[in-house]
This record gives sequence, C-alpha cells and structure tokens, in this order.
Amino acid sequence: MNKIVSATTMKALVYLAPGKKSLEERPKPDLTAPTDAIVKITKTTICGTDLHILKGDVPSCQPGRILGHEGVGIVDKVGSAVTMFKPGDHVLISCVSACGKCVYCRKQMYSHCTTGGWILGNTIDGTQAEFVRIPHADNSLYPVPDGADEEALVMLSDILPTGFECGVLNGKVQPGSTVAIVGSGPIGLAALLTAQFYSPAEIIMIDLDDNRLEVAKRFGATATVNSADGKAAETVMAMTAKRGVDTAIEAVGIPATFELCQQIIAPGGTIANIGVHGKKVDLHLESLWDRNISITTRLVDTATIPMLFKTVSSRKIDPKLLITHRFKLDNILDAYETFGNAAKTKALKVIIEA
Ligand SMILES: NC(=O)c1ccc[n+]([C@@H]2O[C@H](COP(=O)([O-])OP(=O)(O)OC[C@H]3O[C@@H](n4cnc5c(N)ncnc54)[C@H](O)[C@@H]3O)[C@@H](O)[C@H]2O)c1
Ligand SMILES: [Zn+2]
Ligand SMILES: [Zn+2]
Repeated sequence: MNKIVSATTMKALVYLAPGKKSLEERPKPDLTAPTDAIVKITKTTICGTDLHILKGDVPSCQPGRILGHEGVGIVDKVGSAVTMFKPGDHVLISCVSACGKCVYCRKQMYSHCTTGGWILGNTIDGTQAEFVRIPHADNSLYPVPDGADEEALVMLSDILPTGFECGVLNGKVQPGSTVAIVGSGPIGLAALLTAQFYSPAEIIMIDLDDNRLEVAKRFGATATVNSADGKAAETVMAMTAKRGVDTAIEAVGIPATFELCQQIIAPGGTIANIGVHGKKVDLHLESLWDRNISITTRLVDTATIPMLFKTVSSRKIDPKLLITHRFKLDNILDAYETFGNAAKTKALKVIIEA
C-alpha cells in the first residue's frame, strides 16, 4: 500500500492562508509542456520572501501553493523539447524561469520573461517538496558537475545572484571605492561576499542586529555600524571624511533604510536598491539634484549564475558560510520556526534535505 502511495504522491510545504502553512501529501507533479522537466529535489532552503508570502504580503501567491524557489536536485523526467538535460542529470534550479526567446530573455532580463520570471513557489508550485515541475527547463536549470558541493550551490538559486546583480553590478562597485550595505541579512551578506570581487577599499555594513554585524566582519566588512541609535548617517559621514560612499546598497526594503542610502551617498555615487518595498519612500531631490548620483532598481535575473558558479567551484567565495542550520523535509516546520526567529536563533540560511 505504502509503495503505491509513494509512487504518486510526495511531501510538500503548502501555503494555506496568511499565517498558515502545513506539510502535506500532494500529487507528484507531471510534465505539462514539452519544455518542462520534473526534478527530484535533494536540497532546498527558505527565503525571506517565503516569510513575506506567509504574512500575506505577496497577493500573486495564492493559498494551496507549494512554496520554495531555490534548490538542487536530480532530473526525473524531461519533455520532448528539452535538449540540454536528461533523467539522472544533477541540476541547480534558478529562482527565475526563462523561455530564452522573448524580448526580455533576449536582453538577459529573465526576471521579466513573458512566460516565466519569478513564478516558482509564487504562481506555480515550488521547490519545498520532493519533486518540482520546472518550465522552460533548458534555460531555467544549470548542470551541476560531479563532486560539486550541493549546499553551497543552493545559495546560487537566488541570494548570490540577487546580492551580486541588484547590489554589486548595479551599484558599480570599483577597485578602491567605498561601499555601504544597509542590511546584513542573507542578501546583504551575499552582496558583501561578491562586492569583494572588485576590491573596494572599504565596505561598511549597517544593521540593527549585532550578531549579523559580527558575521559581516568575518565575511570581510571593513567596518560595521549598528543603526539602532538613529545616527548611522552621521557615523558613516564621519567614517568617510564627510564625503559619503560611492555605492550605497539597500538590502532591507523599508523607507528608513532607503532614506539612509540617500543621506550617505557621495557625489557621483550610485544607490543600488535590492529591497522589496511595500510602502512609498520619499526621494530627496532637494538635496540630491546637484550630486550627480544614480539610483538603480532590479529584480534578480539570475543571468550571472554561470559566472558565480565558477567563483564558487574555484573557491573564490564560499557561500556555505551563510548556512547556519540543517533540517530534513519532514521537519520543515521547525526549519521555518528557526528561520523566522533569526534574531533569537542566529539563523542565516537553513538547508532542507528532501
Ligand atoms: N530585488 C530582488 O530581486 C530581491 C530578491 C530577493 C530578495 N529581495 C529583498 O532583499 C531584502 C533583503 O533580504 P534578506 O533575505 O536578506 O532579508 P532579511 O529580513 O533576512 O534581512 C534584512 C536585514 O535588515 C536588517 N534591518 C531591518 N531594519 C533595519 C534598519 N532600520 N536599519 C538597518 N538594518 C535593518 C535586519 O536586522 C536584517 O538583518 C528583502 O527586502 C527581500 O525581499 C530582493
Ligand atoms: Zn528568494
Ligand atoms: Zn522569456
């Protein structure tokens, strides 16, 4: 009896309603288009965005949805049009699905793919399950070479490309430049790790949580500022001889932190926003109009996964440093509890083994 059940059903973490989720038995996904692949998940994780969904902040994600948009696994089945992968292949799943053909994909702006983008664990079922259906498999999966460290690669599905593309690349981090990263969560720390590709002279990390600032120091921050006293802008200006920073990366997503970026940006500098904002934020053109600054926004495209893959394989960066806890899929509710109480548990990224 058990055998029959396990052949057609699987365990999955399902969003039920704001504040409610459960680990349920769900039908195993099947191919729905010739470009699909079914992947058996080996390792996945939880993102801050999953917590946003559970609060009811992401209306596109409806009750009944299997959550998760990060992970690695083994290809179980492929549709007839998939040419890059076959059953048994070890793959990394991008959080963004891309057809590779539409006007946005042709510009490598995969996040805006007209039939993809961020749909996994949002508008289609996601990776916090034993199996997942990946649309546009040829462009949304990446081969994992033998012997690669799966846990490190889970960090490549979302957080490393997000910190790098939206923060470091958009922020134009340069050798010898001065960078401030507001927010030392997994995304801010991913920006910190990848900013160091460009040898900035200073990277100042700002957060309210001393534990996360301690981690930031170990990851290469040259200075840290706890902004709980409301004086972070003055502190950063004092640290930079009243000049401000060349790049200010916003990695929180609230008005106060975007305003802080505007207060500390040097003439000619770039404010690179990463945070997802739910509330309007004032733009202080009265003080910024003559300062030659740029402001950028971006939804992660994951176009840099192949490049980041090489930096991880060659150990230029070690994203495994971000992993603080490990759980089995059976205990994913404990994993959510731990991840959701990061201030107490000191959690950064949790690995879930399916
Ligand atoms: N643009 C994109 O494509 C994209 C992709 C993924 C995530 N995001 C967004 O990036 C942001 C960061 O993600 P995360 O997973 O690291 O989030 P997180 O919640 O784990 O980290 C945010 C950090 O900000 C700190 N913080 C909160 N208020 C602060 C304040 N007033 N001053 C200074 N620090 C403060 C918190 O202590 C925490 O360490 C979120 O808004 C997330 O939704 C954007
Ligand atoms: Zn995410
Ligand atoms: Zn496309």
